[in-house]
Amino acid sequence: MRMSKKYDAFVTWASGIKIPTNKKILDQMAAWSSTLNNKVNRNTIMSWRVMETNSMFADRISDVPKSYIREILKVAVSPNIISFAGGLPNRDLFPVQELQDAANAVFNDNPKDALQYSNTEGYLPLREFISRRYKEVKGLNIEPKNILITTGSQQALDLLGKTFINEKDKVIIEKPGYLGAIQLFSIYKARFSPVTLEEDGVNIAELKKASKKRNTKLMYTVPNFQNPTGITYSNEKREEIAEVLRGKPLILIEDDPYGDLRYRGEQQSSFMNFLPEQTILLGSFSKTVVPSFRTGWIVAPDEIMEKLIVAKQASDLHTNYFTQKLLVQYLDKNDLNDHISKIKDVYGHQCLAMIDSIKRHFPEEVSYTLPEGGMFLWVTLPHGISAMDLVQKAIEKDVAFVPGNPFYVDTEETISTLRLNFSCVDEATIETGIASLGQVIKDFIANKKSNSIKKK
Ligand SMILES: Cc1ncc(COP(=O)(O)O)c(C=O)c1O
Repeated sequence: MRMSKKYDAFVTWASGIKIPTNKKILDQMAAWSSTLNNKVNRNTIMSWRVMETNSMFADRISDVPKSYIREILKVAVSPNIISFAGGLPNRDLFPVQELQDAANAVFNDNPKDALQYSNTEGYLPLREFISRRYKEVKGLNIEPKNILITTGSQQALDLLGKTFINEKDKVIIEKPGYLGAIQLFSIYKARFSPVTLEEDGVNIAELKKASKKRNTKLMYTVPNFQNPTGITYSNEKREEIAEVLRGKPLILIEDDPYGDLRYRGEQQSSFMNFLPEQTILLGSFSKTVVPSFRTGWIVAPDEIMEKLIVAKQASDLHTNYFTQKLLVQYLDKNDLNDHISKIKDVYGHQCLAMIDSIKRHFPEEVSYTLPEGGMFLWVTLPHGISAMDLVQKAIEKDVAFVPGNPFYVDTEETISTLRLNFSCVDEATIETGIASLGQVIKDFIANKKSNSIKKK
């Protein structure tokens, strides 16, 4: 649909309000964002969404927040930079030879079948493996018919968006929350109800309020070693959450790609134990085998599974059958638990090394999470210190991280949090990088203090 000639675009602010604007203002906003000029509050830049008028593009794609962070981090790939910005599993731990052997076996044994189309639900032996593993590792009884193989757990989220979300339906999301879920539910034009993530899970008072809002369909959680914070929900919090949601027309999504990567502490119960009729579980082989296979899954009750299968069929017919067969071959000939132990050993040591370096090099006013697993640690700077400003200074000193900004859906305040990844950086490099970052933070705080004294 065309707009009146007077305006060239809408700017959609984080609050959801759309304001018509003209090309001159748009050009100015673009210039601000590309130079990251000091005069502009970066958090405000983060929150605008420009919708081109007379555009061929659908609103659902034009309205999704653009990641200015990605632009900043493009420089972080330079070999001189120590990057804690990534979110990837460590490639040195990929079981390359074992997967090559498995691929050869698939080619040697009925290759024509492995290269043919297959069914939407996924390869039955793979679903049986997942079902057995749920029983062994978590004590959960999940039948293969309630497991749908997806193209990564990211596609599982997409299918849930397709199946449940009408425009303006509400999704409860952790604050801060997983960027991929924020992007995904934005595509389906959901409204977000963010609830603050505390040390042991989401704030219950905020959840009670959010869950009462009309048309609230989903609550999205990453209860084990959350991305971005590394936080794990306690069993008590899980029970309280289940109590709040029980009986409401609302589905809880438990996204659990990191659950197997526990280095310390006790395994916590799945929401399946507390709220079985309303829980949908997501899993993935991306962090335990390899991400390139794009193999994940959804666990859902029969009635929901029926709809998800239709959504999946319309999306891509089925997940890559060859890699599903290859995975089954690999899982048959190798012990996945042994492989996961190797990953946990490396990540666990790197996590401890990062915590140890932070203790020695960061100023006392800085706080941080103590993850018991996963790949990330979350840092909170003193109030008013902008993580977006800090990342510029850090990159000048050859160290990178992800500022907290893109993980929030609703804030105009200065964001003082940041995410550090420890899966891809060895212990010696962690020490060097955290020492530099500590110095950058100290200089930044000192500078800010002296500027505010001068102003007075
Ligand atoms: C919380 C969370 N969910 C889902 C995904 C997507 O994983 P997959 O590779 O299975 O699509 C990620 C990826 O990093 C993630 O952190």
